[in-house]
Amino acid sequence: MLISVDMEEKELILRSGTRLTLREARRSDAAALLEYLEAVSAETDYLTFGPGEFNLSVEEEETYLEKCQKANNSLYLLAEVEGRLVGALSFEGGSRVRTRHTGEFGISVRKEYWGQGVASALLDVLTEWAVERKIIRKLNLRVRTDNRRAIRLYERKGYVTEGTIRKELCVNGECYDLLWMGMLVG
Ligand SMILES: CC(C)(COP(=O)(O)OP(=O)(O)OC[C@H]1O[C@@H](n2cnc3c(N)ncnc32)[C@H](O)[C@@H]1OP(=O)(O)O)[C@@H](O)C(=O)NCCC(=O)NCCS
Repeated sequence: MLISVDMEEKELILRSGTRLTLREARRSDAAALLEYLEAVSAETDYLTFGPGEFNLSVEEEETYLEKCQKANNSLYLLAEVEGRLVGALSFEGGSRVRTRHTGEFGISVRKEYWGQGVASALLDVLTEWAVERKIIRKLNLRVRTDNRRAIRLYERKGYVTEGTIRKELCVNGECYDLLWMGMLVG
């Protein structure tokens, strides 16, 4: 049975002096989250979707967020500054008994907030959540081999490269290799 346990809201001050709030996404965040994802998709080619490609309706996103909140092995985290979404991390654990201890996440931050520690904070909360809940034993991610900034951040957080997935992501007709990275947490 899935048990819902709400995560406490966390606050921290970025080096710029800005107050950042980290909290779990809820159903009512769906519309703002879709708007945020549309905005960040235009700011980078490192995501699995570009502008107009995310393809989820507000209702579908509401259902997904609700599912994440109810599942004890999934976490959708939002980073906000004064109520505005500036970053997001979505981790989904496996749905079967044999895979429920592991899962993969995606992360993004609005470009104007890059380099201020927003992703670092989101990653720390994900690890803390996984360690405390004792359900997830491994966190995984895929990242383009040329996304050096992200790779350096993941390595600093303890993620290890486990292999290369060739030509896995195609952007405007050009296909890129991805690294599969993982970190054991239990
Ligand atoms: C990759 C990404 C998520 C990183 O987010 P971020 O919030 O800029 O990351 P952080 O600020 O936590 O860390 C990045 C750098 O800022 C530095 N930093 C951390 N805290 C800082 C702070 N308080 N003040 C200034 N710099 C800081 C870090 O040392 C790090 O430096 P590095 O480049 O030497 O590694 C963001 O650039 C992004 O959304 N990119 C586009 C989408 C993407 O690539 N997603 C990942 C796909 S796998």
